[in-house]
Amino acid sequence: MEIIHVSAECYPMAKAGGLGDVVGALPKYQCKAGHYAKVVMPMYRTKFLYSNQWVVDYKGSAYIGNRYFDFTIIKEATNKLGYDLYLVDINGLLDREKIYGYNDDTERFIAFQIAVLTWLNNWQHQPDIIHVHDYHAGLIPFMLKNCFAFKRMAYIKTVLTIHNAQYQGWIGWDKANLIPAYDGYKWGDLDWNNTINPLASAVKCAWKITTVSPSYMSELRYNSNGLEDLFEYEKGKCVGILNGIDNEVWDPATDPYLTSNFSVKTVDAGKKKNKKQICETYGLDEKLPLFVFIGRLVGEKAADILPGAFLNALYHQQGKACYMVLGSGDKHVEWELNNITHQYRGYYNAVIGYDEALSHQLYAAADFLLMPSRVEPCGLNQMYALRYGTVPMVRSTGGLQDTVKDMGEWEGFGIRFNHASVGDMAHAIYRAIEVYKDKTHLGWMRKYMMEIDHSWEAVVEAYTDVYRNA
Ligand code: ADP
Ligand code: GLC
Repeated sequence: MEIIHVSAECYPMAKAGGLGDVVGALPKYQCKAGHYAKVVMPMYRTKFLYSNQWVVDYKGSAYIGNRYFDFTIIKEATNKLGYDLYLVDINGLLDREKIYGYNDDTERFIAFQIAVLTWLNNWQHQPDIIHVHDYHAGLIPFMLKNCFAFKRMAYIKTVLTIHNAQYQGWIGWDKANLIPAYDGYKWGDLDWNNTINPLASAVKCAWKITTVSPSYMSELRYNSNGLEDLFEYEKGKCVGILNGIDNEVWDPATDPYLTSNFSVKTVDAGKKKNKKQICETYGLDEKLPLFVFIGRLVGEKAADILPGAFLNALYHQQGKACYMVLGSGDKHVEWELNNITHQYRGYYNAVIGYDEALSHQLYAAADFLLMPSRVEPCGLNQMYALRYGTVPMVRSTGGLQDTVKDMGEWEGFGIRFNHASVGDMAHAIYRAIEVYKDKTHLGWMRKYMMEIDHSWEAVVEAYTDVYRNA
């Protein structure tokens, strides 16, 4: 099958979180399975853009509202990613340093989607599937269904993958004229609660919907930031498919970012060397258990409870453990997490920012990875932790409950708790410190976790079924 993925992120070109990891890996494994998968995304000014070769694939123009714009589609020239990567260059709109966070994001992503469809409309043949990811590409199913200019593509099957339904891309009705084919009769395909809602529109207009874990699929019907009734109504076309991880990028035996590579057989010694290096660099005590948090410092990750939880643990478990944070997001959380570094030097440190290399080093060095998320559609961090022999400590929600089994259960290997609260985290940390004392149990868990298979190879077939049934 020929599949074209449309997304705002794709690793290694541009990544803000797990969306980038997934869109950077799924097409590679679809190609390995014999499909012809490609990715099209905006051309931001990233390091990857400037350090690679590109060829021009198409030049075109289109309207967004009554504004005319030119665009160019460029293609990665060497196919080193294992799939074709296309970038949409719209001068002045997309070619910026950050992915999101501009006042004109609405215009940027609508123009991106119009350019993608204008380009596809000029192909000699048609792809079998247009696979859109999250709300940034969510107006494509609407445009294909309703826009006269794209009529010849109206029968291409569209599949929407929801990575996170918290973000829906709300647009005021005053901007309706930016969307091609909008007219008074079609408002129902765009509207949710008197606002243009690109995610809701995609749920209504796409042929099939997937979410990134089965548990999240069920959760959406009672907790989806206002879309509960819609998911209840559309449940017949929804399927939950657990994400995979790219075992080639995330392999402790070959990971170029690590101080010392290791395999299942050498996990204890390997993790020790990586931990030593991190502890020396960040002034922590390598003899103590190391707890790490990596992620976006936002409410859905329960980042707001982290300062309290760390202070609590540092006070009540004094001298018994070390903690390290890597993340960025809400400014007051960043500030509070940074402040603790002055109070508990030697036991706690924080790197506020985004650092791909350090994230790999921390998965390898940590003994425990904390994920108290309030909402976690899938979560990749806990799967990377498993692969690197690090015990995940997660709140029982979404994809976290689909991937982590509490060590109190038969063949359990992680720690689960129910509430995103300082109290539940304190109890979980207490349990972890006890486990750390039992080196035999810890060693067994590490080996067991590293052998759990979350590879994309095992997942690709589930997507193929969705495409076939669309
Ligand atoms: P989400 O997509 O909701 O942020 P995921 O668990 O799916 O959560 O994926 C997060 C991805 O982003 C992982 O690859 C994680 O290592 C990475 N990541 C998050 N924050 C940072 C950071 N500050 N520095 C480096 N990598 C980060
Ligand atoms: C989103 C979700 C995260 C998921 C990722 C990749 O960012 O928040 O849970 O793992 O997408 O699907």
